[in-house]
Amino acid sequence: MASDNIADILTPEGWELLNSLDPYVEADSLRLTEQLRKAGHPPERVAAALTQSRLRARAAAKFGPFAGHMVFTAAGLEQATRLSVAARHAQRFVDAGLVRVADLGCGLGADSMALATLDREVTAVELDETTAAAATMNLLPFPNARVVNADASSVDTAEYDAVWLDPARRTTTTSGTSRLFDPEAFSPPLSFVQELADRGTAMGVKMGPGMPHDSVPARCEAQWVSVDGDVTEVALWFNALRREGVRRAALVIGSRGAAELTPDADFGDGPTAPVGAPEGYLYEPDGAVIRAELVADLAARLGGHLLDPMIAYVCAPAHRETPFARAYRILEVRPYNMRALKAWVRAEGIGVLDIKKRGTSATPEEVRKQLLTGSGKGRKKATLVLTRIGEERVVIVVEPVPAP
Ligand SMILES: C[S@@+](CC[C@H](N)C(=O)[O-])C[C@H]1O[C@@H](n2cnc3c(N)ncnc32)[C@H](O)[C@@H]1O
Repeated sequence: MASDNIADILTPEGWELLNSLDPYVEADSLRLTEQLRKAGHPPERVAAALTQSRLRARAAAKFGPFAGHMVFTAAGLEQATRLSVAARHAQRFVDAGLVRVADLGCGLGADSMALATLDREVTAVELDETTAAAATMNLLPFPNARVVNADASSVDTAEYDAVWLDPARRTTTTSGTSRLFDPEAFSPPLSFVQELADRGTAMGVKMGPGMPHDSVPARCEAQWVSVDGDVTEVALWFNALRREGVRRAALVIGSRGAAELTPDADFGDGPTAPVGAPEGYLYEPDGAVIRAELVADLAARLGGHLLDPMIAYVCAPAHRETPFARAYRILEVRPYNMRALKAWVRAEGIGVLDIKKRGTSATPEEVRKQLLTGSGKGRKKATLVLTRIGEERVVIVVEPVPAP
């Protein structure tokens, strides 16, 4: 992880300066730098305070108002768990009655903060010195949490009831960070996780949402998580933290709270959804449902079918409210013929196109440009779904069902 210079804000003067600043506005930063330098602050302190102020502003998306009291590094913020997700991780330790928790590779301490908030006794271990210093500041309000600057592999996990692990999945170079794909290149690597799991350690592990199903270790529960439609992670739960009988789950967190889809036990390995023609309503499943391979389960719950066995669109004759998909009413199904579509767009007076697609290589941007170029200045808005049914490409004209 990059060693951002946070030492200059961890002095009484630097801390006071940082906390005296108004919320960060990029356009004001040059003027503010000059003003603070004129007021006698050394350049390093001003630079460090403004960097922190900028990171705090960016961090509000993950930490809400807590961001204004925390310390960040750029790479640490990029990898940090959002508080809304960390709170759900922590709740699982509470539900399992596990009190002494080691967070191995705690980063800036987001998961540790959530665990400590829920009264766990937290030992947060971090290899990188600067990141450990930031975590120490972030965990200061919690007497039940301590930070240790050490290698996770040196920790005797037998001293704890449970372990949380969020391995670093990025490598830092001079030009920024880049994603690692080989789980053995993660730090700590997946084999370290497997070793702890084999010893019976109650453990939760955060992995990238793109983790292939065949890389998910045996005997764990894999829970894909999305926040406001973005799939953020797959959490692997082992031993006492794994739920009985659950192998896959999709946790969907949105403005109306959280909902979870798990395979229906009656379906065994999961249903194979029926396939049928477009009718009634089209559902675009949440990414967590798709990643967890629960589209067929969703179709069964909606009383629906797939349009194509390989494509994640569900259709159902009637509308049912669901947190696991966006619903659209089907207005019309048209052949995938650009010339005819363009004529239709012009005749309907359409000037704004929202385009969704699955199973076709065309990009929404290309298609929008093709359909709207030279079509006059229509005022109407339309939503098109480009997809294929078997070998046949189709365009389904839909309208979004308003959220309740
Ligand atoms: C993905 S980040 C953790 C983010 C954290 N869950 C949060 O929400 O802030 C992984 C962290 O593990 C640390 N790390 C990597 N290898 C480690 C090791 N062997 N021992 C301890 N920490 C390690 C990295 O420095 C990095 O800060």
